[in-house]
Amino acid sequence: MLRPVPQDGGCRRVSQEVKLSVISIPECDVDLFSDDVLRDPYPAYATLRDLGPVVRLTRHGFLAVSRYGDVRAVLNDPEHFVSGKGVGFNDEFNHVRASSIIASDEPRHGVLRDVLGERLGPRALRGVDELIRSRAAELVADVAQRESFDAVKEFAEIFPVQVVGELIGLPADKRSHLLRWANGAFNAFGPPGERTSAGLADIAEQFEYIRTVATREGLAPGSMGAAVYDAADRGDIPEEWSLPLLSAYLTAGMDTTVNALASMILLLGTHQDSWRELREHPELAPSVVNEVLRIESPAQLFARVAVEGAQVAGIPIAEGERVAAIYASANRDENQYPDPDRFDIRRNPAGHLAFGSGLHVCAGQHLAKIELRAMLEAMLDQVEVITVGEPTRKINNVLRGLTGLPAAFAARQPA
Ligand code: HEM
Repeated sequence: MLRPVPQDGGCRRVSQEVKLSVISIPECDVDLFSDDVLRDPYPAYATLRDLGPVVRLTRHGFLAVSRYGDVRAVLNDPEHFVSGKGVGFNDEFNHVRASSIIASDEPRHGVLRDVLGERLGPRALRGVDELIRSRAAELVADVAQRESFDAVKEFAEIFPVQVVGELIGLPADKRSHLLRWANGAFNAFGPPGERTSAGLADIAEQFEYIRTVATREGLAPGSMGAAVYDAADRGDIPEEWSLPLLSAYLTAGMDTTVNALASMILLLGTHQDSWRELREHPELAPSVVNEVLRIESPAQLFARVAVEGAQVAGIPIAEGERVAAIYASANRDENQYPDPDRFDIRRNPAGHLAFGSGLHVCAGQHLAKIELRAMLEAMLDQVEVITVGEPTRKINNVLRGLTGLPAAFAARQPA
């Protein structure tokens, strides 16, 4: 039955019900990858949540899960929603990335995860905390003495490339294209189209960089990158798994944190009362980092593929269906987070899904949190007032962030 429904926040519900035995899956013709929706996806997400636990996106043919409990359930059911058939939305990407950790199932996934876990777990990172804090303090001091600066180009983009680049062991003079390739690699997850094709070309360049620069000889001894080759030398992983693992570091490890940092400056700069309150209560810093990640989740969505027996909230999902798990929508679900569009530094949204959940939960989340907290704490130490101008929104198939943000830090006066 076709039932016309009103225009709603950029998502037009063209047909409401398609009968699948007794259970219906609503349809929606919103294009989650159009420029307009990528600029402001939240009304479209709200419409999807309103339509039902699972909605067919007719433009691209896949299903979308957008409510908090359902996204969490899908991510925690890797037996019925697999990653091994690709977590992107086009065949070419899923083929190119077929050997990556993010697109693997057990037991292969566990083997890859152990290699990264050895260096990215809280214990392994204990010694790194100090280094990150001192780099954060230097960068904040540097921009605070300028009249103004670009909080993306001269701040957010500097820090993770410097810190993570050093941890991976990449030569300092050979890091200038890393963010362009990572940004492209996230675009490449999208449905077929120009943006996606350009992203696939960036992945090819990144792979070439790994083959020629991030080599055994090129990476600093003892670094996280070198540890990948050590694992291959010990026979823990086959040699050919090294490249996709290094690519995971270069793709997932930098641009995500860059976007989180940019969003943090924008949110704090546009919520002066929150910044003042935070300065009076610096102990809130860790929960503010969570709130930034909840409200502007840097990685908005990834896919899973249903296998026999899959269901979402009791609705059977046919084998082979590609399902988008929209983390960013789950994080704005009004049934999980009251008044979800409000940036609330006292919310402490533990359980947010910005890092995913379950088997594939972000392997670098401890590092990302150390970086974001270090930066926020350095700002609390040194900055009195944050002023921001008009942001320029990044348009990326998966990432939510900015490409530019004029900003100024008024330095804190010594007591
Ligand atoms: C704010 C920063 C970050 C965000 C928001 C983020 C987000 C995510 C998300 C949502 C996933 C889950 C993918 C899925 O469900 O299929 C993921 C996986 C992953 N992330 Fe992150 N990430 C961040 C930082 C990092 C960093 C710093 C690293 C490494 C240095 C990293 C490495 C990885 C890896 C290797 C995976 C794949 C894990 C697996 O498949 O088992 N991430 N990330």
